Amino acid sequence: MGILVEACGVCKSYKHGNLNTDVLRHVDMSVSAGEMVSIVGPSGSGKSTLLHCLAGLEVPDAGEIHLMGVDVVRARRGERAKVRARHVGFVFQRYNLMPSLSVGENVSLSARFAGCRVSGKDVCDLLERVGMGGKEHARPAELSGGEAQRVALARAIASCPDIVFADEPTGALDTANGNVVLDILRAMADGESRAVVMVTHDLEAAARADRVFVMRDGKIVHMMTRPASREILTAMETVGERDTDEGAMLR
Ligand SMILES: Nc1ncnc2c1ncn2[C@@H]1O[C@H](COP(=O)(O)OP(=O)(O)OP(=O)(O)O)[C@@H](O)[C@H]1O
Ligand SMILES: [Mg+2]
Repeated sequence: MGILVEACGVCKSYKHGNLNTDVLRHVDMSVSAGEMVSIVGPSGSGKSTLLHCLAGLEVPDAGEIHLMGVDVVRARRGERAKVRARHVGFVFQRYNLMPSLSVGENVSLSARFAGCRVSGKDVCDLLERVGMGGKEHARPAELSGGEAQRVALARAIASCPDIVFADEPTGALDTANGNVVLDILRAMADGESRAVVMVTHDLEAAARADRVFVMRDGKIVHMMTRPASREILTAMETVGERDTDEGAMLR
């Protein structure tokens, strides 16, 4: 399969009291197998919302999204859940580990949802890969932020998903552990049949991707192929500055 996820004209708004805030405004994006894509942009520009929509976790108000060939905008909730379980790994910005389950159970449960049998050894190996070896019996509440973040990655990749969406997956990590995470994500995309879509504020991390999308005010304002981190910084500072009334409303 070439394109794993494709979004066209995606719009999403949230109601805050009487005010409707447009969070995504006609976003187009596609990600192919073998690609790692980064999304960068200021806080509040809609990156997490876009990631949730692309992954079939949220439904946009308008536009099309095809995820693994399934129209996830029109699909029933159950069908969307099935596509996610079978094909998608998601690293949430706030990790979203199940507090009542052990670290090991958090990892194995998502694989089981996807129909994958993972042994205790598989779970231990996965935790080892993210530098969390021996922590399978710990509870999420006992973990530091960076530890929880690495468990969240192990959970996301436990089912060998076709596409991993990672929302600031290195946000709580030191450079060495951040590189471990980025190496894992990069290797998944290099496998050619899978893809990774990563949101990040770390421009060095963003530069590990094949393509980088810059978001601002709910729009993709720029796309770069294999940019250096310095080019991403320049693009973020200069591209898509908008001073329209509409833009002012959103800032
Ligand atoms: N469930 C929600 N209900 C209401 N407003 C929301 C909801 N989710 C997001 N928003 C609003 O949408 C806007 C974009 O949020 P989003 O989380 O997508 O931004 P972001 O680019 O990921 O920011 P950050 O870099 O801080 O994580 C914000 O103004 C936020 O308040
Ligand atoms: Mg976010």
